[in-house]
Amino acid sequence: MKATVVYESLTGNTRDAGDLIAHGLREAGVEAMACPVDRVDLQWLSESELVIVGTWVDGLFFFGQKPGRPWKLAKLPVIDGKQTAIFCTYALDPGKVLEKLQGVVERRGGDVIGGYAIKRDDIVGGAAEFVERVLASSALPRVPA
Ligand SMILES: Cc1cc2nc3c(=O)[nH]c(=O)nc-3n(C[C@H](O)[C@H](O)[C@H](O)COP(=O)(O)O)c2cc1C
Repeated sequence: MKATVVYESLTGNTRDAGDLIAHGLREAGVEAMACPVDRVDLQWLSESELVIVGTWVDGLFFFGQKPGRPWKLAKLPVIDGKQTAIFCTYALDPGKVLEKLQGVVERRGGDVIGGYAIKRDDIVGGAAEFVERVLASSALPRVPA
């Protein structure tokens, strides 16, 4: 199976998480590539059965949270009907970022199977947990609509 991990990152945490997630998937036998949302390998993406989309949380820490740089995420290539898992990295409180990211992904045609918020003080542990949950997708919490 092939997978593409697409991320939007300002200071590097979400990029690190994306790279770790791709690495974890490869260790489980999935051919996975991670790329920033504005430099997606379209050939790889078109051959992927699984897409993972990650963003950072932008807001006023306890309210007004939204996916970071949404104009970049809005340019996510069309992923009609592809199984998609989403994640975010955050400092204190992700608010409703996963719900908002789910909306962005669905507008690009992705079929969201679930999402997970990774706290920035444990990117390594959070990425490993996310990979485990994606591989047993019933363990990945559904994002409320
Ligand atoms: C401008 C700005 C606003 C942020 N707002 C929030 C917030 O509202 N809630 C939160 O939990 N984290 C917030 N954060 C923390 C980031 O979401 C967190 O550090 C994230 O891991 C950054 O990912 P990145 O390194 O990929 O850009 C904010 C960070 C920045 C730079």
